[in-house]
Amino acid sequence: MKNNPLPRLDEDPQLRERLLPHCRLTSGEVWEDPEGRHRVACADATDPRQIQNLVRDDRAALAIHDPPYNLVAFDLRNVDAFIDWCAKWVQLSEQCMSESASFYVWLGADQNQHFQPLPQFMILMQQLGLFESRSFITMRNQRGYGTQKNWMAVRQELLYYTKGTPFFEVQYTDIPKILRGYYKKINGRKTENLERGRSENIRPGNVWVDIQQVFYRMEENVSGCYAQKPLKSTERIIQASSQPDDFVLDFFSHSGSTLIACEQLGRRCLTTDLDPIYCEISIRRLEYLRESGKSGWQNGHPFEDVLERDEQILADE
Ligand SMILES: C[S@@+](CC[C@H](N)C(=O)[O-])C[C@H]1O[C@@H](n2cnc3c(N)ncnc32)[C@H](O)[C@@H]1O
Repeated sequence: MKNNPLPRLDEDPQLRERLLPHCRLTSGEVWEDPEGRHRVACADATDPRQIQNLVRDDRAALAIHDPPYNLVAFDLRNVDAFIDWCAKWVQLSEQCMSESASFYVWLGADQNQHFQPLPQFMILMQQLGLFESRSFITMRNQRGYGTQKNWMAVRQELLYYTKGTPFFEVQYTDIPKILRGYYKKINGRKTENLERGRSENIRPGNVWVDIQQVFYRMEENVSGCYAQKPLKSTERIIQASSQPDDFVLDFFSHSGSTLIACEQLGRRCLTTDLDPIYCEISIRRLEYLRESGKSGWQNGHPFEDVLERDEQILADE
């Protein structure tokens, strides 16, 4: 395994300065996939003009949004300002979606701050009235924090909303059914759940315990990114709530997880990030997948070629 990770890009302004000249998008620009399937924009999720440039006349069957909600974001904004900001991109997203569509949002709940912004966001969604609430999913992380004086915080929240009557296909996990019980009489014969079920495996339900958090040993790891969602979680959403060739919207691309899962599952991704470096990472990750079949760089990184070239130039000078 190559051991050449990038540090967290949000904490390294000097590295950012070195990478920016190698980013092909600047604010407002859109990258067109040469294979004609996806588009990546360097755009603000709350800017109607920039989002229109990305989405055009296409309409998404599914949106998966993972906005910044971590402590950095909270330090920068109070919760009311954060919710006003959310209202803008939620409304824009709805305008870019089909009459029948699914809308998923990952959101944190700060246990030291009355679980903000989760409850405020739920109330916002109720007030906007654009979507029906469908499920409140929790994904369990392997690693947590706060183990000594509190319950270890290991959850990630995922809200599922719909409008109209969108496609939904039940997904099964790789976890075998092991518990017997739930006897039911069918045609006079007592049957039990294992023989009645449509699958040998259990459904994920709304608590997901079978998804590995991304870490440096995994092929899909994109070092430099600080908020990468596991591909398995994105794939689960895409398979449940969209069909081949559907458009999938993601306003907060970062490491490009939605783009990569769409490529692998034959969907078409329309995605954006405000930061040109994350746009470049997303595009490079797609290109790398197509060249090598790999979904990430494990403990290497997306800018190996350009940084090695820069270092060679400096050494030659
Ligand atoms: C939590 S990360 C998304 C992680 C992503 N789901 C993944 O798996 O890699 C949030 C991203 O939103 C981007 N962002 C922040 N404000 C934005 C805005 N107004 N418009 C678009 N992107 C924004 C940040 O640059 C960051 O890359």
